[in-house]
Amino acid sequence: MCTIPAKEQPVTAQKTTTDRTTIDVHLGPDDLRAAMREEVHTGLTASPRTLPPKYFYDARGSELFVEITRLPEYYPTGAEAAILRERADEIAQAAGADVLVELGSGASEKTRLLLDAMAPGLRRYVPFDVSADALREAMDALAAEYPGLDQHGVVGDFDHHLGEIPTGGTRLVAFLGGTIGNLDPDERHDFFTRLRGGLVAGDSLLLGADLVKDPARLVAAYDDAAGVTAEFNRNVLHVLDRELGGDFDADAFEHRAVWDAEHERIEMRLRATRPMRVHLTALELSLDFAEGEEIRTEISTKFRMEGVMRELRAAGFEPAGTWTDPDGDFALCLAQVSMPR
Ligand SMILES: C[S@@+](CC[C@H](N)C(=O)[O-])C[C@H]1O[C@@H](n2cnc3c(N)ncnc32)[C@H](O)[C@@H]1O
Repeated sequence: MCTIPAKEQPVTAQKTTTDRTTIDVHLGPDDLRAAMREEVHTGLTASPRTLPPKYFYDARGSELFVEITRLPEYYPTGAEAAILRERADEIAQAAGADVLVELGSGASEKTRLLLDAMAPGLRRYVPFDVSADALREAMDALAAEYPGLDQHGVVGDFDHHLGEIPTGGTRLVAFLGGTIGNLDPDERHDFFTRLRGGLVAGDSLLLGADLVKDPARLVAAYDDAAGVTAEFNRNVLHVLDRELGGDFDADAFEHRAVWDAEHERIEMRLRATRPMRVHLTALELSLDFAEGEEIRTEISTKFRMEGVMRELRAAGFEPAGTWTDPDGDFALCLAQVSMPR
C-alpha cells in the first residue's frame, strides 16, 4: 500500500483536490492486472464461462455506468435517491456516525444526500472503489462542492481490502446501488462477515438492496432501448484486450439480460454471434467460442426484505431500520454493530 497525498497524483493535481484529500492505493495498476490475469483465466476456462463484474469499471466503464443510472428504464438509482431525499436525516440520526465510508462509491452522486444529512458533526468521507479514475474524479467534484470536507479515498477491492478501511471515529459504511447483488449467497455471507469483523461497537452499515419485482421491468432495466447497458457489458472485452493483450471482437458478442427465476437474479451475458477463436497473450490462452456460447459477466440479485435481514443477522449485524421508496422498488437497510465479535 502507498499513501499518496492526492495533490501528488498527476490526474488529481490538475483538478480540484486540496490538502484535505488523501488517497490510499491498495490496488495499483500492476496489482489490478495481476489479479485480473488470475481471475480472468479462472473465469474464462470455467463452464459456464464467467467474468468478475469489477472489470467493467475502467474509466470508460465508470462513465457508462453513470449514463445507465440516468436511463428511464434503470429505476434503482432514482428509487434509492428518493429514499435518501426523504430519509437521510433519520438515517444519519439513527447511525450517529461522524465518518461516512462508502464502498463501491463510483461517482459518489447519491452520497451528497448523506453528506448533507451528516454535515453538522461529519469528520471525514472515505470513498472506496476499485476504479481509481472514478474515485479521483468523484473526490475532485466533492472537494469543489464541499471545500471543508476531509476525504480519505481508498483504491481497493472489497474482495480483498476491507481490512484497509481507515479506523477512527464512528463509522457509517454505505454500500449503495444494489452492488451487493453482484455477489452470490456464499460471497455475500463472506463479505458481510469480513466487513462486520473490521467494525467496532457503534459503527453501522447502510445497505442498498434492489427488491424482487416484475421480471419484465427488471430485464428492461438491464437491456435498455438506447443500448447503453449493451455497450457497458461489451466494454469488459475492451478492458481484456487492452490489459491482457486480447483480440476479442467485441462487436461479435451480443448483450443479453436474462431473469433467473430460481435464484431471483438478473444475469448479464455476452453471447458469441459466430464461432471464433480468441487469444489473450498475457495469459498464453486461446479460447474457442461456438456460435451462441455465452460468458456470464454479472449477476444482479434481487432481494426480499426478510432475506436481507437474515443475511445481516447471520453475519453479526443488528438490523436497526429499513426504508423503501413509494413504489417499493428498492430498500435501504441500516444495520448496527453493538457488541464486539
Ligand atoms: C453498480 S456501481 C454503483 C456505484 C454507486 N455506488 C451507485 O450507487 O451509483 C458499482 C461500483 O462498485 C465498484 N466496484 C465493483 N466491484 C468492486 C470491488 N470488488 N471492489 C471495490 N469496488 C468495486 C465499481 O467500480 C463501481 O463504482
